[in-house]
Amino acid sequence: MKAEKWHANWRDGRLGFHQKKVNSRLEQFWPAFELPSDASVLVPLCGKSLDMLYLHQAGHRVIGVELSEIAGEAFFSENQLAFEKRDTGNLQEFTGVGDAAGIRLLIGDLFALEASQTGPLTAFYDRASLIALPAEMRQRYIAKLSSLLPAGATGLLISLIYDPSKMNGPPFSVSDDEVRALFNADFTVQQIDSSSGPERLGNLADRGLDTMEERVYRITRV
Ligand SMILES: C[S@@+](CC[C@H](N)C(=O)[O-])C[C@H]1O[C@@H](n2cnc3c(N)ncnc32)[C@H](O)[C@@H]1O
Repeated sequence: MKAEKWHANWRDGRLGFHQKKVNSRLEQFWPAFELPSDASVLVPLCGKSLDMLYLHQAGHRVIGVELSEIAGEAFFSENQLAFEKRDTGNLQEFTGVGDAAGIRLLIGDLFALEASQTGPLTAFYDRASLIALPAEMRQRYIAKLSSLLPAGATGLLISLIYDPSKMNGPPFSVSDDEVRALFNADFTVQQIDSSSGPERLGNLADRGLDTMEERVYRITRV
């Protein structure tokens, strides 16, 4: 999906991907990573995800990257958090203040982002980000993560597998083999959970799916 389409989705409120609660897989699996509480966590393609609040409440510094300014503003205002805006060349930076100190949203194209703009990172969190991208963009996405993350950085990836003849993405179906092939060069991949069944569908039931599989991986930069 092109940038303009994502901007239009935010303008028109087509936000079927947004979850009104913190993701249960994040709550279930993140604590076992035993990251230092002051870890810096990259959240690529972050939308206005409440998962960033969970990471912040765990004590982490959160660096979200998101195309849409509407999403960035909504994240702070809907959670009654104060922030300041600053232009930094190719991006805008929304920096949380007060209770939101430690949350930075970089508003712009992830693919234009440089490591100097995120600062040092220790971890990442991807829910509905890799699977938001069409097949031809996924390798570029992984290469960008690889360029931003140092050796040893670890991340949680939540991905979906379904019959693509039943629904057009996003979210796209990304097979286990594809996940492993995409990350193979610079990361290790450990599948830590797999679940399936109609109860996982949520709003996707309305788009023609009758079942799907959810996969959770721990991904570590080598
Ligand atoms: C499917 S949504 C997922 C958002 C979030 N991860 C969540 O769980 O709610 C994908 C988001 O990526 C953003 N996005 C798409 N392409 C992007 C890019 N190249 N750079 C930054 N953000 C992008 C979209 O605006 C959208 O908010």
